[in-house]
Amino acid sequence: MPDIILNREVALNLFNKYNKNESLLRHALAVEAGMRHFAYLFGEDEEKWALIGLVHDIDYEMYPDQHCIKAYEILNEYGWPDDYIHAVQSHGWKICIDVEPEHKMEKTLYAIDELTGLIAATVYMRPDKSIKDLEVNSVKKKFKQKNFAAGVNRQVIEDGASLLGMDLDLLIAETIKGMKKVAKDIGL
Ligand SMILES: [Fe+2]
Ligand SMILES: [Fe+2]
Repeated sequence: MPDIILNREVALNLFNKYNKNESLLRHALAVEAGMRHFAYLFGEDEEKWALIGLVHDIDYEMYPDQHCIKAYEILNEYGWPDDYIHAVQSHGWKICIDVEPEHKMEKTLYAIDELTGLIAATVYMRPDKSIKDLEVNSVKKKFKQKNFAAGVNRQVIEDGASLLGMDLDLLIAETIKGMKKVAKDIGL
């Protein structure tokens, strides 16, 4: 396996090679920002967590039926370390792959992946279409409306929060904070 230098440019180039969809890119950037924020909160490796967030759906556009499986092949081919790949794959736990989130980084990814989608969908409903003044309660309300953004798997968010041992309100609040930092890039 070749030694590679991992940085944001490398990760973004790789992501863009496999993804042409604008909304998937925005999702990747939102999860990246969320991961960076939680790494900061937990005193962990911000760059590492962010890179994993950025590429976590690397195989989704081209191989939706082999999501989290093809990711292994792609990232392995480009020399990504095993712990990065394990983290990426584990976000599909109980959904598309039997790889359980173990590390705190993996539990965080699991918890915020679907949540970033719910937050974005909640923002789109606002008159100002901006995340600037978004409150936790607005997201909580939408969380409870099962017909709203029905594709967002609420169970995954709840499972992620309990894996982290984090209150759902706090998880939402901190994910909003992370996304706010890149609001412009993610169209919010
Ligand atoms: Fe995914
Ligand atoms: Fe995702």
